[in-house]
Amino acid sequence: MATTREIVNPAAEIQARTFDVRKIREDFPILRQKMHGKPLVYLDNAATSQKPQAVIDALTHYYTQYNANIHRGVYLLSERATQAYEDARIKLQHFLNAAEQREIIYVRGCTEGINLVAQTYGRKHLGAGDEILITAMEHHSNIVPWQMLCEEKGCRLRVGPINDRGELLMDEFEKLINDRTRFVSVAHVSNALGTINPVKQIIELAHARNIPVLVDGAQASPHMKVDVQALDCDFYAISSHKLFGPTGVGALYGKAKLLESMPPYQGGGDMILSVTFEKTIYNHIPNKFEAGTPNIAGAIGWGAGLDYLARIGMENIASYEHALLTYATEAIGQIPGVRLIGTAREKTGVLSFMLEGIHPHDVGTVLDQEGIAVRTGHHCAQPVMDRFGVPATVRASLAFYNTKQEINALAAGLEHVKAMFA
Ligand code: ALA
Repeated sequence: MATTREIVNPAAEIQARTFDVRKIREDFPILRQKMHGKPLVYLDNAATSQKPQAVIDALTHYYTQYNANIHRGVYLLSERATQAYEDARIKLQHFLNAAEQREIIYVRGCTEGINLVAQTYGRKHLGAGDEILITAMEHHSNIVPWQMLCEEKGCRLRVGPINDRGELLMDEFEKLINDRTRFVSVAHVSNALGTINPVKQIIELAHARNIPVLVDGAQASPHMKVDVQALDCDFYAISSHKLFGPTGVGALYGKAKLLESMPPYQGGGDMILSVTFEKTIYNHIPNKFEAGTPNIAGAIGWGAGLDYLARIGMENIASYEHALLTYATEAIGQIPGVRLIGTAREKTGVLSFMLEGIHPHDVGTVLDQEGIAVRTGHHCAQPVMDRFGVPATVRASLAFYNTKQEINALAAGLEHVKAMFA
């Protein structure tokens, strides 16, 4: 007789066989380390992720075998570097399911991607009295660029409120869209709370009024399949270092028509077709937005990271992390004195919390002695802290190489913290 498990969910069986976290951990050399004599439990993935050997190897290979500037040399070394750099762009195109590779602009990170849109699209199209709509759960990187634009142009920043779970109040958000709204910019996932926003619905609402939408994908892209064509977003910004790639490189996806209509962001290098003192002709997209020598090694290393993720499968990652989050929420949430901040029904693996009577920095410092790395503070989202009436939280953020054993270590660590401060 077949077991219920076999009948009910054969797909889960396949997945259980293909996703082996012990094997995956072997790909990340840093995870073998000890901290203060204890095994490293790395739970600060929302700040930055660890890098698989494939990324480290790609960086070494580039620097030892074909380091050269791109788009410039007629010699073989430069052609190899150019090819690898452009191949990584195609990998990004596939990762985001962009329609064309020229819709992928290399930037320094998600922050720069948002600033680019504010400083180009925003400066060209927004004026006095126009409104930009964001949410109350944005990272500073999706608040301040718009505030800078508002200061310069006399626009107004409007903020969609959230409920006590940390979910966007969609009715209130919709009410804030009016005739003056010219731009919407929202996080796909909140870095401080883990909330997954209904971005598709937000985009539909905005597009019904011809308002373009930027999605800050820094915290969503490492945890789920992103499809910019299915979302129909106008811009989508991501960071390599959150996505298991090197620091200092990111990507801005933009619809080709919009990117073509936007003025350049910075001048020099690759963004030029021809220069005279009388007139400069700008390059086509994506080069129009890529002034100066870019982070060539970073892009190539990121490409190797995207290949690695493709081999594991974003769907497998999402499903594993979802199960781990459920386990962690129960394990940490049931500890007396823990107050979870951010309990949205749709969440990625972020556990922000307070431990009654103990400052988050003290919690983090004691956890560090146990080998456990978490972030403490306002997580570059001070308005979120204000909304929940806390100065800071402890934040444990998960990646697909984390395990239930590590969650148990965190729970034990918190009991230890409590005992120390009792
Ligand atoms: N944005 C990063 C974080 O949430 C740095 O920690």
